[in-house]
Amino acid sequence: MTSCLDAARPETAPEETSRFRPAIHFTARDTWLNDPNGLVFYDGLYHLFFQNNPYGNVWGNMSWGHATSRDLLHWTEHPVAIACDETEDIFSGSVVVDHGNTSGFGAADAPALVAIYTSAYKAGSEHSGTQAQSLAYSTDAGMTWEKYAGNPVLTRNSAHFRDPKVFRYEGKHDPCWIMVAVEAQHQKVVFYRSEDLKSWDFLSDFGPANADAGEWECPDLFPLAVDDDPENIKWVLIVNVNPGAVAGGSGGQYFVGEFDGIRFVPDAGSLAAPAGVSALGDSAAAAAALQQCLWLDWGRDCYASVSFSDAPDERRIIIGWMNNWDYANELPTAPWRSSMTLARELRLTALNGFARLVQQPALAGLTTGEDLTAAHEQLRSGTFELRDSTFRLPAAVPDSAQVIEAEIRPGNAEYVAFHLFGNPDETTGTVLSYNATTGQLVLDRRRSGNTGFHEKFASVESAPLVLEDGVLKLQIVLDHCSVEVFAQDGKVVLTDLIFPAARSQENWLTAGGGTATVLKLAVSTLS
Ligand code: FRU
Repeated sequence: MTSCLDAARPETAPEETSRFRPAIHFTARDTWLNDPNGLVFYDGLYHLFFQNNPYGNVWGNMSWGHATSRDLLHWTEHPVAIACDETEDIFSGSVVVDHGNTSGFGAADAPALVAIYTSAYKAGSEHSGTQAQSLAYSTDAGMTWEKYAGNPVLTRNSAHFRDPKVFRYEGKHDPCWIMVAVEAQHQKVVFYRSEDLKSWDFLSDFGPANADAGEWECPDLFPLAVDDDPENIKWVLIVNVNPGAVAGGSGGQYFVGEFDGIRFVPDAGSLAAPAGVSALGDSAAAAAALQQCLWLDWGRDCYASVSFSDAPDERRIIIGWMNNWDYANELPTAPWRSSMTLARELRLTALNGFARLVQQPALAGLTTGEDLTAAHEQLRSGTFELRDSTFRLPAAVPDSAQVIEAEIRPGNAEYVAFHLFGNPDETTGTVLSYNATTGQLVLDRRRSGNTGFHEKFASVESAPLVLEDGVLKLQIVLDHCSVEVFAQDGKVVLTDLIFPAARSQENWLTAGGGTATVLKLAVSTLS
């Protein structure tokens, strides 16, 4: 069968865009990528499959690219794993390790890896006009893949049935495989079960609910203990939505509730508006309801986040696509275009009586930056004060990422602001500020550099933030073309792309309208 990999390769990079290449975020060498797919840990390696156009740097020829990593920071790209052909594009999906050889693709002592992906059938093919779920399997630890001859294994004769996430369920009923997928245009998550991955029975559906103005895509469902209490297990249902996310365009929402092996029931505290936000129309009420939904990330550029299967120690680790369909095809980089977010570990914690997600970037043990407060001349008690003044931080370093960790008591200051990737004149830059009057964390990229490649790119994002003991806690990861912010120990996360002008690498901190106290300020460089 002819594969779709016959198109011309993209031209080589304009030199100046190579400085946007991230140091610790995955990008394909010289092609387009979107959603992470088939995240799985197997035999000491994290596998990241991804939506890839192997022969172009805009969306198209959808196939699964492949990369592996031992530490979730340094990735090695491998040849295309599952390629499109004349009948189908290979849309998003997941990979499981078939430990019990339920599918028969492997052997009892050598489990196959099984990919469950969406066949997006092309015009003229037997299933033309539909999206259905198909299998491919690997018996060499994920390096080469065979499509199953009996594909598709599950169809609903629907044009928008896609993005299967499969996991092993061992609850009240007999152990089985559960598939979570979407009817994208009906804002529904659909649940199926199977004994062998090949034959599937419908269980239930969920939705519309909360942010439901756009298509629902790339769902995920998994259990987590609330505050590490094994007696208090909740289920988290991730539903990505495009458009209609809180910052505009694409974004990831989640629900917390119960799953009994058949249906997902959200906790009342998970629902912003019982009938879904779109029922409120285009009103201020709808905007306010959107703020009440639960968001994985309040920025513009974190989409299609899904979690690893079989992660060590039952950790729940997600990766998102660091982009937004509003302008994804136009990002000013070449020949590569688009990157993934950092891997993030999820936990549930009780906040005001409701279970909520917190996220930490997978950087454990690496942020050993010197505490800059120790070097500050005013320092006596391990802290220093800022009032209408500027404190300079180390400038960004080519080929390295920086992690800024700060604990600041805003006190009576009206704002505290980090200026990131600024120019030497301090007239441009990305501004991350805490506004004490509104209680919002604000990420402003209107003067971040090249914003002109798309009318929707220049933007200001904000998220409600509650100080803890009067303290603002930030972990800010800077990596050439991105700012990822984990605030209040990961309770609030904000991710934005930026494309700074050449020589814009200055970082500084200011506070104004009163006096803020810096309790901790450390910068680590990761290459
Ligand atoms: C999400 C998405 C998925 C689909 C894939 C196609 O970004 O639209 O729903 O499977 O991208 O590339």
